[in-house]
Amino acid sequence: MYGKICGTGSCVPKHVLDNEDLSRMVDTSDAWIQERTGVARRHIIEDETTVSMAVEAAQRALENGNVRAEEVELLIVSTFTSEILLPCAACEVQKRLGAVNAACFDLNAACTGFLAAYQTAQAYIAAGSCRTVLLIGSESLSNMVDWKDRGTCILFGDGAGAAVLRAEPGEVPLTVMHSDGGAGGALTLQSRHQKNRGSGLDAGYIQMNGREVFQFAVKRVPEVIQELLEAGQVTLRQVDYFILHQANKRIVESVAKRLGADIEKFPMNLQEYGNTSSASIPILLDEMNRDGRLKQGQTIVLAGFGAGLSWGAAVLKW
Ligand code: COA
Repeated sequence: MYGKICGTGSCVPKHVLDNEDLSRMVDTSDAWIQERTGVARRHIIEDETTVSMAVEAAQRALENGNVRAEEVELLIVSTFTSEILLPCAACEVQKRLGAVNAACFDLNAACTGFLAAYQTAQAYIAAGSCRTVLLIGSESLSNMVDWKDRGTCILFGDGAGAAVLRAEPGEVPLTVMHSDGGAGGALTLQSRHQKNRGSGLDAGYIQMNGREVFQFAVKRVPEVIQELLEAGQVTLRQVDYFILHQANKRIVESVAKRLGADIEKFPMNLQEYGNTSSASIPILLDEMNRDGRLKQGQTIVLAGFGAGLSWGAAVLKW
């Protein structure tokens, strides 16, 4: 048995912060941000929270998949930005959804989190532990960004995406995941709440060596996609879409080029939302599902990368 995605949903905050707004906050410009990242706007929470966006995205995914909340047997929230740490965000989402039969936990693999959650769901279903799984990526990165640091605040946005998986007969789709904790210093976030947190100077804010992260992504993502396709005996031409974590337009373009694949197969919505970490893949999946770009039988590659450092890819049939 494997888990087939039968429903998707998403939720982004109403408030939009565009590049002109940002250029009044830090020394930057719309032209610089668009050229270096492709981001034009991002949605930023006001009344919304990580959990409230997760609940809305999940409700939409359940409705889209025609699945009742009580049918969900496993509920995973991928996040590192939840407003509550205990209970886990997934239990709070369970309560608000009425998903009373679900086992719930959170998972943090940063921007690779949705892939890690997807792989976990497949393993549970293949083991016969459950038949219906709700996966959610939800992030409020605006809470973790230093709005005085132009090197990071231009990149990120808030939002949530969700997918429902139902067990069906068939082989588990292939997923490949890697981590390199030794290189983790390139992208970090220290908790504000620890007594022993090293220098502690910038605790609570995302710290990043942008160039290092960029170089890591443009090397590792094509590599892991090639590894995946080889293992699955799938050719580049057979893939209809490569749905990459939406971090930076130049990263996506560089991955397409290094693979020798048509850029038209790499949909992007980062211009509208910025980098929403583990929410970016399910938000894009939901957009493409609802506007009809995703059609039954298509071959889709998902690929994520981010803090850890971590990276991975999965190939699935829609
Ligand atoms: N506006 C204007 N100038 C800026 C700026 C901004 N927002 N941010 C940095 N600069 C300046 C720098 O100070 C530097 O100036 P200098 O040459 O006078 O020293 C110059 O622009 C170049 O900076 P650099 O950091 O080398 O730019 P870059 O081309 O590497 O682009 C990023 C910076 C952050 C856009 C890019 O490195 C990137 O996208 N990295 C990946 C980040 C990422 O995706 N992280 C999440 C992964 S999940």
